[in-house]
Amino acid sequence: MGAEPYYGPDFGLLHRQDPEVAQVLLDELDRLRGGLQLIASENFASPAVLAALGSTLTNKYAEGYPGRRYYAGCEVVDRAERLAIDRARRLFGADHVNVQPHSGASANLAAYAALLQPGDTVLAMELSHGGHLTHGSKVNFSGRWFDVVAYGVRRDTELIDYDEVRELALRHQPKMIICGATAYPREIDFAAFRGIADEVGAWLLADVAHTVGLMAGGALPSAVPYADVVTFTTHKALRGPRGGGIMCTRELAARIDRAVFPFVQGGPLMHAVAAKAVAFGEALRPEFADYARQVVANAQVLADALAAEGMRPVSGGTDSHLALIDLRDVGVTGAVAEQRCTAAGITLNRNTIPYDPEPPTVTSGIRVGTPCVTTQGMGAEQMKEVASLVAQVIRNPDAVGETRARVAALTEIHQIYPSEL
Ligand SMILES: Cc1ncc(COP(=O)(O)O)c(C=O)c1O
Repeated sequence: MGAEPYYGPDFGLLHRQDPEVAQVLLDELDRLRGGLQLIASENFASPAVLAALGSTLTNKYAEGYPGRRYYAGCEVVDRAERLAIDRARRLFGADHVNVQPHSGASANLAAYAALLQPGDTVLAMELSHGGHLTHGSKVNFSGRWFDVVAYGVRRDTELIDYDEVRELALRHQPKMIICGATAYPREIDFAAFRGIADEVGAWLLADVAHTVGLMAGGALPSAVPYADVVTFTTHKALRGPRGGGIMCTRELAARIDRAVFPFVQGGPLMHAVAAKAVAFGEALRPEFADYARQVVANAQVLADALAAEGMRPVSGGTDSHLALIDLRDVGVTGAVAEQRCTAAGITLNRNTIPYDPEPPTVTSGIRVGTPCVTTQGMGAEQMKEVASLVAQVIRNPDAVGETRARVAALTEIHQIYPSEL
């Protein structure tokens, strides 16, 4: 046998050495292959991304930044980080990118740390209207260490009320305004937020964890020209490894870098950084723009088809990869809908809708997203079938067997991580 230039994951070895863990990996793959994944924040990373993640780069300590590390032997991994940074800068036209945050929450913690002092006032979107835990929830560092004032959506339109945002900004004089959300289906007017931030002298943080992939593919406008700091994740619509990142202006570069390391994190996950470089490279290809547009088109068909089934999309529809569905007209709570869908092999999550009368553990809604099914190659026709399946099993739990069979027929044609290459 000749010498192999590469040493990579060997599933056979794992299986022999640790069958219990190997079985977890097999069962999860089975779950992915056999069901429909409608969780809006998930996607299927490519085999190339998975290969980088499963590499020996996981071994390297590289505290610091390329060319200025606190450990020896970083010349090689430096190249991975430089590639990730260069590609992300090209993809988004950003002055500066930090690719080290371990997650979206870590990226947000670093953004707060770079711009604020504990006790400062922040204006951010209400969690129950679509904001994120790191935007001021009391159970998170953001709500514990900062004085967070919340804006929401209007009752009638279910759209962000920019007049309210401006009024609250003028009244509370926040040091930072956050735009970006976890469960808001509509385009966000970053220029309007910039105008309000300028009026009160606040920093503008755009948390585009959910929509960064759509921004990369040109399917939604970019926040980069408007925000001082843009935080994001790489594992949602962007289709990369689990992780986070931060983009910012040249002026804030040093502050952001110091906030990520050494303030918030220690050594970066260099295997994840390499995988981020691969994902940015994939997103730079023209096909990714087609993918991003198809994700949105699919979400729109899915939302319309669910509306036709009597399940109302909050705000009347979507401009993005997700729809928030109000189930009150069908008399089923979000929690029950989630359970019924899970039983049929459809994975989605319950979600509060704006002004939800139900508590967060129950909710009146579900959130459905199309990044995964679009990666599987599904289009408009399949979205109509998906809506019909969701509606069938939510309305009638006795139809679980029939729904499961129809899910299997769909995933048979649109396979993910196929067992035969
Ligand atoms: C808007 C927003 N910010 C931050 C995060 C946190 O990302 P992570 O789960 O990687 O910490 C999420 C996750 O869903 C999000 O939706």
